[in-house]
Amino acid sequence: MPGFVGRAAEMKLLDRCLAEVRERTARTVLIGGDAGIGKTRLLGRFAATAHESGAHVLTAACEEHFGDPMPYGPLLEILEVFGRDFGEDDEAYRRLVDFFDRRDDHLSGPQQVFVHVRRMLQHVEAPLVLIIEDLHWADPSTLDLVRHLAQCRPEQRRLLLVCSYRSGGLARTEPLWQLLAGANFTRRVERAELEPFTLTELEELLDTGSGPPRPALVERCLTWSEGNPFYAEQLIAAGALDHPENLLLPADLQSVLLARLSGLGDDALRVLRVAAVAGRATSRRLLRRVSGLEAYGLGAAVQECFDRQMLVTGRDEETYRFGHALLREAVYRTTVRDIRVDLHTAMARALADDPSLSLTEGSAAAEMAGHWYQAGRRPEALAAAVRAGEQAMRTYAFTSAAVQFERALQLWPRVAEPERTAGLSHVRLLADAAESARWSGDTGRAMARIEAAVAEAGEERPDLLERQANYLWETGSRREAGRVYREAAGMLDGRPASAVKARVLAAIALARLHAGRYADGKEVADAAMRVAVEAGARAEEGRARNVAGLARGMLGQVTDGVELLRAAITLARQENHIEDLLRAYANLGLILENAGDLREAADAAMAGLAEARRLDIGATTQAMILANNAGVALIMLGEWDEAERILTEGLLDRPPAESVYPRLTLAELRTARGSFDRARELLASIEGLELNGDPRFLGPLHTIRALVALGRGDLPEAQREVARGVAALRDGENSLERLRLCAVGLRCAADQAVTDRAAAMRFGDELAREGFEARPPESTPETDQLLLVCRAERQRLRGAGTAVLWGQVADGWTGLRRPYEAAYARWRQAAAGGGREALLAAHREAVRLGAGPLVADVARLGRRFGIDLADRPYGLTEAELETLRLLCQGLDAAGIARTRRVTPRTAQTQIHRLYQKMGVHTQAQAMAKARADGVFT
Ligand SMILES: Nc1ncnc2c1ncn2[C@@H]1O[C@H](COP(=O)(O)OP(=O)(O)OP(=O)(O)O)[C@@H](O)[C@H]1O
Ligand SMILES: [Mg+2]
Repeated sequence: MPGFVGRAAEMKLLDRCLAEVRERTARTVLIGGDAGIGKTRLLGRFAATAHESGAHVLTAACEEHFGDPMPYGPLLEILEVFGRDFGEDDEAYRRLVDFFDRRDDHLSGPQQVFVHVRRMLQHVEAPLVLIIEDLHWADPSTLDLVRHLAQCRPEQRRLLLVCSYRSGGLARTEPLWQLLAGANFTRRVERAELEPFTLTELEELLDTGSGPPRPALVERCLTWSEGNPFYAEQLIAAGALDHPENLLLPADLQSVLLARLSGLGDDALRVLRVAAVAGRATSRRLLRRVSGLEAYGLGAAVQECFDRQMLVTGRDEETYRFGHALLREAVYRTTVRDIRVDLHTAMARALADDPSLSLTEGSAAAEMAGHWYQAGRRPEALAAAVRAGEQAMRTYAFTSAAVQFERALQLWPRVAEPERTAGLSHVRLLADAAESARWSGDTGRAMARIEAAVAEAGEERPDLLERQANYLWETGSRREAGRVYREAAGMLDGRPASAVKARVLAAIALARLHAGRYADGKEVADAAMRVAVEAGARAEEGRARNVAGLARGMLGQVTDGVELLRAAITLARQENHIEDLLRAYANLGLILENAGDLREAADAAMAGLAEARRLDIGATTQAMILANNAGVALIMLGEWDEAERILTEGLLDRPPAESVYPRLTLAELRTARGSFDRARELLASIEGLELNGDPRFLGPLHTIRALVALGRGDLPEAQREVARGVAALRDGENSLERLRLCAVGLRCAADQAVTDRAAAMRFGDELAREGFEARPPESTPETDQLLLVCRAERQRLRGAGTAVLWGQVADGWTGLRRPYEAAYARWRQAAAGGGREALLAAHREAVRLGAGPLVADVARLGRRFGIDLADRPYGLTEAELETLRLLCQGLDAAGIARTRRVTPRTAQTQIHRLYQKMGVHTQAQAMAKARADGVFT
């Protein structure tokens, strides 16, 4: 059985009531909730903790009955357990047993029974928890007993009565309903209604110990179980969710669900069938129109469904929803095909006549398409699917659009004159299907569809090629993408300016930028801008500005770059071009990060991510890139937990080729945290992927590999990795990445110098020559800072490291808001004799970040220097801090000496020293300062 999930509030309520019972005040708690929601599990858990805390627990349950329930069923169970637990001597117990055994009538009525039960329970020494489960099946006498126990004076009784019941589907006529409606009763009890599990709770429920379940599976499980753990477990156990399109309703579950329909009137059943055909929700008016029931009969039938909570109100009074998604499924499947077809046809017709019958504005097309399809009317279904897909694209509902286009493709060959019926060509349909698939995160299908479109088109279609190249790019096939872009460019060469031409040029420019050829890329991007303006293509102009902005940013012309990118954002928004919108945000974040404006960079990336989520396209490549950029900036800012969250979310279930960057970034984080194995796993997952020489990939890749080797103590491997990185970046223009790599390389060399000075010097010189002296970078705050780091490491390598220089490095990083790098430098500063404060600062920051390896390095140094790293205020020692505490309590030196069992002289000295450290002169000042700084709060 999986561990216990959630239910914190309910446990707290029960614990509180038990505490009150301990104080001799009786309490009653009712736990309501749907079948399978977890009432029994909750009470079992509570019973166990109550028992552990010394309470006595008695549990009984009402049984499901067919015909008349047995009077006092649970009480008999309680008596049995009571006799076993406490022996048979209790007077009240014996009279009750006699009464039930022999039907003696010396208990003259129910009141007498209740009084004896109460007495019997009162004789128990410990606080008593009495659990009665499944009150919805209780006989009237048991309900009376519950009422009696709850309403009786609570003082001096140590009884906690807890009852569970199914609240869903309770009819007004049932006795329990009447009990719950009683004002006198409800005033004396506390009630809790168990809510369905959230997504996170379901995830926990489904984690059977072999790692968390796939997010997509959890999502699907949430959809079908609606957070009900019983349904969730059943669906998973039966493998019912393994096929995304098709739910395999397990037979057991289906009969459980259908059992709920027994006793429903014919009209009510008809209403349910119509509603099931309509879908998970339906409009009141559509139900009325299609059900064929007279107004009065309909009203009564709907009421019946409502009373039993088969139907509930949807988001407003005008919509009905099934009480549970699985109930709809079960009803639908058990409706005979003829009736289903008739109902679907009637619904499609009704919607065609009056689209306002549909659920939401604009959804009529999709609903109609669905009904025609289910009714088996292919031509109507084809036309409706295409319309519905187009409409869904306009409203960014890409997943729905993809469903419709795929359905249209499937219908196409089975309709007589498909092109005329659908109102578009097959090639166009393929391209639309590709685009919708791509935006709903299914790149594989996008690729297949666009390839089919290109092949089928036969003529020169640079627009299709441009799409294809785009998808190739996104799936990580950079080289192939470049080839297709050039092919498209070849077709366009010599043709007049056009939107497609601008788009293709922009793509080529971008490819150059990714290959680290910034000046070149800028030139092509500017050309794209001119073509777009000439062709009057606003969206393409936005795209070109986007790339041109990125190029400038990479060339260090940040202000110009930011301006272009902001313009690109505005244009993309005006043109409703979400791809460009997200790209512009991503690029803006990137160049701000390169310029050292980390906070703004993180904000820009997260703003883009928020847009993506708002449009419900959080699972696309674009969103993933944004998540990565946000993660990178947050790591630098030292907000590691947030970074980790965003990065792991961004990864979802994506294949490595489509999630190279976040994998790399996450590996960097794990390395800094000392999880070398997990970092290596991530690196291995992207081993050998083709990225066409992108320095923004190669730089971090080699840097992180080197850091992993360094962390594992393999210096030679770390150096080899740095050398490989330097070689890979040699021809590019990205000096930032090269410098980052050099700094790590020099660090390795300096470490090596301890054992092999000569070799280390050689490596250091080589790095200097190749890495940064040969081609000084354009100056940015980060490159300046990195050069300083390289200098400091090189001095360390020569054995001439100075605390002053490392202090400068640390200050520089702090100024750039890079706490981790600053902490590293502080550690070096301390190691070079820079003092206790530096080491404490390094320790504080490394601990806050959770940077395990650095914490260990700092601690080692602390031990060597005999420095206590505990973070006490004003650098006080343990003894001084204690003395300060006593001072703040108003004790004088003599008092402190007595309390601390030291000589008055020692106390005096300590007081004197702590005044010095605090920079005060009197006890009053010390007290005031400690209070102002919140030292003892
Ligand atoms: N908090 C929980 N943590 C883990 N599993 C749970 C939790 N709540 C319920 N489950 C699982 O869900 C299933 C149904 O729970 P349970 O039997 O408690 O439901 P119930 O509300 O008592 O249903 P019924 O009304 O049919 O008695 C069980 O397999 C149980 O283990
Ligand atoms: Mg139960």
